[in-house]
Amino acid sequence: MKQLFNCEVVSKTFLNEDVYTLKLKRPQQMGDIRPSQFFNLHTKAMPYLKRPISISNFDEETFDFTIIIKGEGTKILSEVKAGDLVEVQGPLGNTYSIDPEHKKVLVIGGGIGVPPQAVLSEALKRDTDAHITVQLGFRNEAYLVERFDGVADVLQIASENVDYDHKGYVTDLTAKALEENDFDMVYVCGPHILIEKVAKMCMTKNVPVQLLMEERMACGIGACMVCTCKVKDDTMPEGYWNKRVCKDGPVFWGSEVLFDA
Ligand SMILES: Cc1cc2nc3c(=O)[nH]c(=O)nc-3n(C[C@H](O)[C@H](O)[C@H](O)COP(=O)(O)OP(=O)(O)OC[C@H]3O[C@@H](n4cnc5c(N)ncnc54)[C@H](O)[C@@H]3O)c2cc1C
Ligand code: FES
Repeated sequence: MKQLFNCEVVSKTFLNEDVYTLKLKRPQQMGDIRPSQFFNLHTKAMPYLKRPISISNFDEETFDFTIIIKGEGTKILSEVKAGDLVEVQGPLGNTYSIDPEHKKVLVIGGGIGVPPQAVLSEALKRDTDAHITVQLGFRNEAYLVERFDGVADVLQIASENVDYDHKGYVTDLTAKALEENDFDMVYVCGPHILIEKVAKMCMTKNVPVQLLMEERMACGIGACMVCTCKVKDDTMPEGYWNKRVCKDGPVFWGSEVLFDA
């Protein structure tokens, strides 16, 4: 059983109508937090399952979650106030592999996949000398851009409805970037369709890619098998094995995930 903490809300800030950042007090007994890890969040007002949310920032005293209102759970969470308690379970999940030898990396985040990529980009800037290209995709207004501005060598923003660098999908920018550059590593997080498109593009070009999968979850700790994805396994009769995104992930290599099985 992973650690459970009741954490006091320090602040809640809306970044736009549907997106907010919760800043919580970080308990002293909580261990290290690494890029791509997530926590299961719950409040007394939420009648059912915990919601998995990636860490979007942290320091010694506090830790943040940037959350998009999707349904009832994320809506109820958006109603907490400073001083309220939020139950958090974690940190959970494996972490991105960061290699200081890499010279040119591409970081892609779309929608709910943007917040964890801010933590990753800052870690890449701190721990490597790599040239960092960041591509972000939004449906409407962009958010958290100032975090990426500080660390990216190249920052490109796509929105379906607002004019930034590109009006349309972030994957249009990715296709061009993969054509024009030799990347050592690509890191992608976002909705399933975005992850699948980027993984397939990278595989075609033989570029290694790490996928942070934000699948739907129920238990969030490996017990229910709601969150499985298929990974290649030649020892199995079907040629694949079901891995749990919550327990075995959420980061997988593009070369191991089977999207079409
Ligand atoms: C590792 C990980 C990290 C994540 N990080 C972030 C983040 O940083 N920021 C962020 O905004 N979101 C993040 N998410 C997504 C977030 O967990 C969901 O948006 C949230 O759980 C939706 O909950 P809700 O109650 O608001 O919506 P709901 O009303 O529960 O659900 C929205 C939709 O999903 C369906 N659904 C929900 N749960 C399940 C389930 N268990 N099985 C089947 N269908 C289901 C519902 O039917 C509905 O159509 C992350 C998810 C994962 C797995
Ligand atoms: S959510 Fe239950 S096993 Fe992953």
